Amino acid sequence: MSIKVIGTGAYVPEKIVTNDDLKKLIDTSDEWIRQRVGIEERRISTEETAAEFAVKASMQALEDSGISAGELDLIIAASISSETVCPTVAGFVQKEIGASCPAFDVNSACSGFLFALDTAVSYIARGEYKNILVIGSERLSKIVDWSDRSTCVIFGDGAGACIVSKGDGYLASNLYTKGDDGVISIPAYGGSSPFYTGVHKAPYIFMDGQETFKFAVNKIVSDIKLITEKAGLTLDDIAYIVPHQANVRIIDFASKRLGIPKDKFFVNIQKYGNTSSASVPIALDELARSGKLKSGDILALTAFGGGLSSAVCLLKW
Ligand code: UT7
Repeated sequence: MSIKVIGTGAYVPEKIVTNDDLKKLIDTSDEWIRQRVGIEERRISTEETAAEFAVKASMQALEDSGISAGELDLIIAASISSETVCPTVAGFVQKEIGASCPAFDVNSACSGFLFALDTAVSYIARGEYKNILVIGSERLSKIVDWSDRSTCVIFGDGAGACIVSKGDGYLASNLYTKGDDGVISIPAYGGSSPFYTGVHKAPYIFMDGQETFKFAVNKIVSDIKLITEKAGLTLDDIAYIVPHQANVRIIDFASKRLGIPKDKFFVNIQKYGNTSSASVPIALDELARSGKLKSGDILALTAFGGGLSSAVCLLKW
């Protein structure tokens, strides 16, 4: 048994921070950020939390699906930047939307939403769960070191969500993890135990940009080839690729190496930057609402990042 997506939603906070705004904080330029990353502006929260974004994206997905919160059997949220470890983002959403089903969070950094979606597919395959809400939500501005120009210019805040139900639309997937803190690491709050003698690292994103870049390009290319083969399809069968929005140059390289035209890659990084686990579901929602998708279109959703991790799936729309 497989799934189909029956509704999507997204939410980004109102405040727009442009590249020129960032020049007031750090030594950077609009030209460098546009050319090296492809970002023009990002949304940054002034008051709301990742869990609150998640509620708004979820309500939109529910409305789009036509089902009520009471019909949800499970909520799974991916987040690395919630204000609270407990309640979970999924648990907070459950309360706010008036659902009563189980709810839990997963964490696989930028690949988190696709790990959560794959988990939802497994629950649906068990036959006990009919409708599952899957969310990616991040307030990355909380875990960015705003004095580090190599990271603070690339991240943004937002949330995306989708509701999946029984169907035949999940054609193939692949999850990958290589436990490693040398390339990307995000230390959590160190605590105040008087007995702990280990090092307390600052709770901000550390990233070796160039190593991450190489990993990302290689992974998008190999992941998409792998699942296309798994599904018995060819690259030409893919109508759209919805990639993690980390750097437009990563997408350009992937397009060239796969021989898939750039216009098949959905790109919105210029507006939102890299929103980690929220990036794929925000892009999926925008693509779905653009009216470009036809029933039966094959979509490849692909993400990569901290872990190190990557995840990919083929969806039939
Ligand atoms: O979501 C998780 C996955 N993340 C990713 O996929 C990110 C992958 N990596 C990247 O997108 C890129 O590596 C970055 C955007 C992070 C950095 O771009 P880069 O082209 O790899 O730059 P770099 O780190 O090689 O730095 C080149 C130069 C350096 O100056 P020097 O040493 O050549 O004088 C940096 O200090 O650019 C400088 N630089 C900046 N200059 C202006 C670094 N950040 C900035 C900045 N503004 N914000």
